[in-house]
Amino acid sequence: HSYRHILVEKKGEKENVGLIQLNRPNALNALCDNLMSEIAQALSKFQHDDAIGAVVITGNEKAFAAGADIKEMQNLPFADTLKGDFLNQWTAVSDCKKPIIAAVNGHALGGGCELAMMCDIVYAGEKAKFGQPEINIGTIPGSGGTQRIVRVAGKSRAMEMCLSGLPITAQEAQQIGIVSRVFPPEKVVEEAVKLGERIASHSKLIVSICKESVNLAYETTLREGLHFEKRLFHSTFATRDRKEGMTAFIEKRKPCFSDC
Ligand code: HXC
Repeated sequence: HSYRHILVEKKGEKENVGLIQLNRPNALNALCDNLMSEIAQALSKFQHDDAIGAVVITGNEKAFAAGADIKEMQNLPFADTLKGDFLNQWTAVSDCKKPIIAAVNGHALGGGCELAMMCDIVYAGEKAKFGQPEINIGTIPGSGGTQRIVRVAGKSRAMEMCLSGLPITAQEAQQIGIVSRVFPPEKVVEEAVKLGERIASHSKLIVSICKESVNLAYETTLREGLHFEKRLFHSTFATRDRKEGMTAFIEKRKPCFSDC
């Protein structure tokens, strides 16, 4: 399959980590409609590829992504945004059942910051910048910026970022919980792939159940979340991999998971 705006390959010793690199360097990886459709297609392929246990999304050293494509949006009438459900295909990222790690260098602005936050884990290079500058151009975040920052960092930081339009550093993003680890720029993708390999070494079935459970904490009350977690936990007892994992421990050997 050939894509225009992204590069797709398999990484890791066992080629079990999918890598999607945004590739519109002249536009700082601005997320045009076609680019997001290609991400959705690539994710769907990885989703259906039994060998893939995790996916890494990255950009280049200058930009993870500088936002939705302003040139594409400039003359877009309101009615068309509504009729065409503008930017709706972005949910392919947050809906993916396999874990996605964002490896961020450079600008992660607007939709770029939102894309990073749709991923399950965010690694960043020391010089990365995160921000929601939509307010500077007369609009607001439209893909989770006003929602996900509140949930990870609280109202004050979310308001500060969304209302000032000013970016924060990778270190600040780590302090407030948007980013889990910061590395030298040239190490970010390598470390993300390493983490992906570690995740891919587990039962892919149990990993997806675990991801679903963590995600629920975002979306529901604690009471419902705890209930759902317990039911999902119980459901792991219906799998071969749960039995294999515990048996391997008792027999002091490595588990051999079959993803069922
Ligand atoms: C389209 C973009 C772009 C964008 C940069 N470019 N960001 N094109 N959409 N979001 C293009 C520029 O037009 C320019 O093209 C080229 O990339 C290089 O950008 P420069 O501005 O010359 O680079 P630099 O001076 O280094 O400044 C980097 C920057 C700046 C600070 C990141 O580009 C910038 O402020 N970009 C816009 C950031 C932003 O407002 N993002 C939010 C978008 S709204 P040419 O053709 O001139 O060479 C959004 C809404 C999300 O994301 C809604 C929900 C999904």
